[in-house]
Amino acid sequence: MNYLKFSIVLFSLVLFSCSKNKNEQVKLTSPDTNVQIEFGLSEKGQPTYHLSYKSDDVIKPSTLGFDLKDMPSLKEGFEIVNVTPSNFSETWEMPWGEQTTVENNFSEVKIDLQETSNLKRKISIVFRAYNDGIGFRYEFPEQENLSEVFITDENTQFNLTGDHKVFWIPGDWDIYEHLYSTTNFTEIDAKSKAKNKDLAQTSIPENAVNTPVTMKTDNGLYLSFHEAALVDYSGMTLKIDKENLAMNSELVGSNNNDYKVKRTAPFNTPWRTIQIAEKAGDLIESKLILNLNEPNKLGDISWFKPTKYTGIWWEMHLGKSTWDYSGNQDMTSFTTDAKPHGKHGATTENAKSFIDFSAKNNIGAVLVEGWNTGWEHWIGFEDREGVFDFVTPYPDYDLKEVVRYGKEKGVELIMHHETSAATETYEKQQDTAYALMQSLGIHAVKTGYVGKILPKGEFHHGQYMVNQYNNAVIKAAKYQVAINAHEPIKATGLRRTYPNTISREGLRGQEFNAWASDGGNPPEHLSIVAFTRMLAGPIDFTPGIFDIKFDKWKKDNQVNTTIAQQLALYVVIYSPVQMAADLIENYEGNPAFQFINDVAVDWQKTKVLNGEVGDFVTIARKERNSENWFVGGITDENAREMDVVFDFLSPDTSYEAIIYEDGENADWDKNPTAINIRKVEITNQTKLQMKLATGGGFAISLKPINN
Ligand code: NOJ
Ligand code: CA
Repeated sequence: MNYLKFSIVLFSLVLFSCSKNKNEQVKLTSPDTNVQIEFGLSEKGQPTYHLSYKSDDVIKPSTLGFDLKDMPSLKEGFEIVNVTPSNFSETWEMPWGEQTTVENNFSEVKIDLQETSNLKRKISIVFRAYNDGIGFRYEFPEQENLSEVFITDENTQFNLTGDHKVFWIPGDWDIYEHLYSTTNFTEIDAKSKAKNKDLAQTSIPENAVNTPVTMKTDNGLYLSFHEAALVDYSGMTLKIDKENLAMNSELVGSNNNDYKVKRTAPFNTPWRTIQIAEKAGDLIESKLILNLNEPNKLGDISWFKPTKYTGIWWEMHLGKSTWDYSGNQDMTSFTTDAKPHGKHGATTENAKSFIDFSAKNNIGAVLVEGWNTGWEHWIGFEDREGVFDFVTPYPDYDLKEVVRYGKEKGVELIMHHETSAATETYEKQQDTAYALMQSLGIHAVKTGYVGKILPKGEFHHGQYMVNQYNNAVIKAAKYQVAINAHEPIKATGLRRTYPNTISREGLRGQEFNAWASDGGNPPEHLSIVAFTRMLAGPIDFTPGIFDIKFDKWKKDNQVNTTIAQQLALYVVIYSPVQMAADLIENYEGNPAFQFINDVAVDWQKTKVLNGEVGDFVTIARKERNSENWFVGGITDENAREMDVVFDFLSPDTSYEAIIYEDGENADWDKNPTAINIRKVEITNQTKLQMKLATGGGFAISLKPINN
């Protein structure tokens, strides 16, 4: 035990020895003492906490509690009956991830509360202080007067210290696929984002934001609010109280129930988290959300290998081909007539051409969408239960032959299950569908939940769906299947506990660039995503579009970045499955494709070299089991120059670097494909001045030169 830790233990003991006093203040400090939490009860016995960083307020005194159905609220009249402090320190290993090992050091205090009135109900609050922020949760112990718990509202308050600059999406109960807004706190207007015609389902009942929500204070401190370990509970949005500069937890509800969460004690809520950073990039390096989750429950999952993949996917979004066998279901028109139009994408032949291309280009997998029957009857139909099945291929797709061919070429298939949000059908078929995958040696599935949830009245982010998503992952693990969910519940670090939770959507992905009526994701989109959505976990963004304008398919849409930024995304946006999303013909013969061929997908180290939320970010990652590094940098709608310092490289080693940078006069709109590729030698003394075009970026691969 080092001196610092020893002194903290002593410090904690002094503080906590004088318990059982109603007016007692419980204090908790992070291992480095920068983060401080004070907890106490108000005059009326209401639980209240207060958070500071280096002695400055971060959260002003804020109250905690619950409203319950047919019962008095858990609000006031509490006394502290017990205070249990502890410290914890470990290093754990990620089976795959942004880094090989994670440090998990925190101080904890558990405060047991009991009502002084007749009901004598009990609740505990556990706080953890980390060097990079805090987590706290409620624990409902087993007890006589509180067994079945129907939560109508969780009242967790976050009283802010000012009118911070906020990077937010609306607190939509049904989808996260919104553009981020950057406004002061008092300018947040979530309901102005309702009635978005590009969304198959949306519901924004309050002026609330979704998490992770990231802020910058006037003092230049960065804060991000989220939750960890969302299990058997509703997702949390944060309701905006402009007058008091406060946020209040607003759980996602259901039209079928007059409560938001139903649980039986004993149980714990998810962790409420606040990440704190002096540099924006430290938010990305923070592992607080993962650390608050339980360790791996699956053991060895070496059957899942991080991989790049291509697929029969972008062509449907462009309207080149269709998911369904008979109609013409690109993303702009849906018909129900059942005559084959010869545009079906998922044919045996097409799948084989993706396998051939992948095998030649160091890409381990191919995704095939639209392979199974049912696509004639998904978006737009009310009666979607019993339509899709996940074992019956269309007549022009020979699943077994495609799998066999892939094996011959060393390329795995990624299965696709579009549930169309018909949850009962999917639940019933999961065993059969995952068993089929296992029998074919397929270890990953992309799932989808497009449309309003069936049963009617449920929302994508409520307790019912949280359980659907989590149960699918647990069931899939039994068949050695990993899940990449689209239209998912937000990531809350459960990949630590169930590492077959490999990636997910849960943001406006690349597909919006193909068909969104608002022209797609603006150039600043990913410079915000890196500091918001990405703090939750891996993103299946599907980068790598080279034909930026795709005028052949869609005149009014385009990708709003340069081609160099598309390359940078393989490093900037983390996912253990990373798609090379464009059509094969757009890669063939393009020298920029070398970067996609070379880039790794599994990392031993990650370093954020610079960044400002909404403006730019540069990330360096070192490949696992290798000495290779990859660097990616992106900017928003502003061109900029930046120095990149390579002091993270091993000393006494020279690296051959291939730099892919925006070409002279590159611009996301006027000249997006101008790219300059050059080779240079780099050491840990090198400083490069990089020029990023409007909507641009750069990507660098670095390999040691063996002398
Ligand atoms: C929406 C998903 O995000 C997209 O990737 C997929 O192609 C379609 N649904 C069809 O499942
Ligand atoms: Ca900006």
